[in-house]
Amino acid sequence: MAKLTIQKFTEMKAQGSKICIATAYDYPTAALMNKAEIDAILVGDSLFMTVLGNDSTVACTMEDMIHHIKPVVKGAPDTYVIGDMPFGSYNISKEQAIEIATRLMKEGGCDCVKLEGGREMAEKIKAIVDAGIPVMGHLGLTPQTVSKLGGYKVQGKNIEAAKVLLEDALLLQEAGVWSITLEAIPEQLGKLITEKLSVPTIGIGAGRYCDGQVLVFHDMFGLYEKFVPKFVKQYGNLAPEILKGLQEYRKDVKEQTFPEDKHTFGGISEEELKDLW
Ligand code: KIV
Repeated sequence: MAKLTIQKFTEMKAQGSKICIATAYDYPTAALMNKAEIDAILVGDSLFMTVLGNDSTVACTMEDMIHHIKPVVKGAPDTYVIGDMPFGSYNISKEQAIEIATRLMKEGGCDCVKLEGGREMAEKIKAIVDAGIPVMGHLGLTPQTVSKLGGYKVQGKNIEAAKVLLEDALLLQEAGVWSITLEAIPEQLGKLITEKLSVPTIGIGAGRYCDGQVLVFHDMFGLYEKFVPKFVKQYGNLAPEILKGLQEYRKDVKEQTFPEDKHTFGGISEEELKDLW
């Protein structure tokens, strides 16, 4: 399968062909997604929680992002890769936003960048896009500003908030984003924004009418047990399987039933080694 492009994703919206995205943060997971023909991989700053064990994405750094984007790009050469811009790395100026987006593309090797925020980010988005870098926006529940939002809560639940989100989506589109992630908003608002925009919407907890869906890998496979949002569908429950395997391994080593003959190397006999004892 040839790597998809932003032009293709836009065509998919026009044709009603849904876009399937999942997060990955390492080489083997990316390689599986490449095999599964997932349309795009998001190296989200969610890695700071799911893989690096933190309680929020706030302290994630550029170094963390680049470190994880690189192996994903290697593992999924035929898949479009989106790299998240970490909190605080793009707020100061248009110049800073361009510099950070450029670093993610050059050092990480991703195909586009994603950043969170509404109208306040429009100028910076335009500057990044003008510098030749495709941008995915992110509206609704924006985890980087979770403390401002007062927690991981559904957004746009009243008419005023819904109006602001719709306006933000239109402003982001005008600024040049090629798509917008909509996180944790009512399904009907997801539908309205999707129909009002010409660029694809990618939902995560934004209902069935978005142009595509994105899920966090560790949520999909039961590998992040601290909290499972309502919008997650689990496609496997790997944590108990892995735990069982680790417990068996421990028992094997303690009881000396591993390694067996088939796991060992010959090549020199005890007789030959006798003088070294
Ligand atoms: O960081 C991330 O994985 C994300 C998704 C939740 C969309 O931004």
